[in-house]
Amino acid sequence: MSSSLKPLRWGILATGGIAETFAKDLLRDPSTRGVSDVNHVVQAAASSTSADRAKAFLKEVGAPSSAKAYGSYKELVSDPDVDIIYVATPHSHHYQNTRLCLEAGKNVLLEKSFTTNAEQAKVLVDLARQKGLFLMEAQWTRYFPLAINIRKLAAEGTLGDIKRMYADNAFGDDVEKKFDVKHRMVNPDLAGGALLDLGIYSILWIFQLLYHIQPKDKRVKPKVSSIITPEPRTGADECTTIIMQFATGAHGIATTGLRVGSDPDGKHSAGPSIKIQGTKGELQIFPPAYRPTQYRIIPNVAQNSTLEYKEVTEDIPGHGMFWEADECYRCIRDGKKESDTIPLEETLVMMEVMDEVRKQNGLVYPEAIETTDYPRDL
Ligand SMILES: NC(=O)c1ccc[n+]([C@@H]2O[C@H](COP(=O)([O-])OP(=O)(O)OC[C@H]3O[C@@H](n4cnc5c(N)ncnc54)[C@H](OP(=O)(O)O)[C@@H]3O)[C@@H](O)[C@H]2O)c1
Repeated sequence: MSSSLKPLRWGILATGGIAETFAKDLLRDPSTRGVSDVNHVVQAAASSTSADRAKAFLKEVGAPSSAKAYGSYKELVSDPDVDIIYVATPHSHHYQNTRLCLEAGKNVLLEKSFTTNAEQAKVLVDLARQKGLFLMEAQWTRYFPLAINIRKLAAEGTLGDIKRMYADNAFGDDVEKKFDVKHRMVNPDLAGGALLDLGIYSILWIFQLLYHIQPKDKRVKPKVSSIITPEPRTGADECTTIIMQFATGAHGIATTGLRVGSDPDGKHSAGPSIKIQGTKGELQIFPPAYRPTQYRIIPNVAQNSTLEYKEVTEDIPGHGMFWEADECYRCIRDGKKESDTIPLEETLVMMEVMDEVRKQNGLVYPEAIETTDYPRDL
């Protein structure tokens, strides 16, 4: 596939599971998703362990043979031919790795959760602004046509006044069997636990409707009340429930967990995992919250709603991570330093909410991954 458009030359920092999925999506022909104004190139990848690992990764994702393989992140950020770096390390490492990229003058797309705490997030945002670099949290779900459409219909008042939302993103795993105590999902040294890994999706869905589409004066940090149950072996959060009250008065109930799931049989038998409840009706989204393909609208008959019952299913031509990459392309092409769909200010408020949940429940990570000191070897 060749394109006459100026390429956006990506560097992939880390060679784990999501880096692979993202790089494969990046290499998909944009026309398969009806897009003709982007040109993504995988320029290089770096592994913290060896150049051979990076080489194997590039082969696995089908990158062109010209792509460079680096055995350290420092080499990647020094490559003058890389325009933007996708950071896909565990969240514990996001601050150090992203700071490395920004200090080297690189634009960054940073996996969720942005950092381990809001203080680190603020340092990165300030640094990107000071250096005139593009920075965005990889909240890929927001760029799905389905999510864009739901924000639009909610903003147009289709559901009436939104009074309440429930959002769940939980996996229902056999925790001890699936995750060794060193695994990033449960290991506090890697900022493990449900909140930062899965709960961010429950929070982002609620924020899209009760914060993002609201008038500016209503976009303030919500009141937060929360409970956490720790994972018995490591103390990371295993089950977390957050109640938020937004400036509109609307309530948002965000839940997440490792041991109980949003979709226990994988067949949607448990129903939707997200409910947007307005005075005219309710919009329900089926799991998984991070990669939704199906929703329905149910009228509120008690309030003589003129809404009609409707079910919508949308196909995704791939995993769906290319839409956020397309946003990066367009922002950088147009000289924008952040995305309107996930403004850095909103990322900071979501990080503050998660900080508050942790504070209310005494959940702290090791100092090495909470600090804003840089550089630190992790
Ligand atoms: N958007 C999504 O749908 C989605 C899905 C899953 C995960 N994520 C996010 O993506 C990030 C990575 O998740 P993942 O599932 O890809 O994790 P993973 O499979 O464990 O991969 C993480 C990679 O980070 C690098 N790394 C550097 N230092 C590390 C350390 N001390 N321990 C472990 N890995 C280290 C490793 O690659 P090299 O050292 O070879 O570079 C490793 O392969 C997390 O922030 C997670 O929240 C997003």
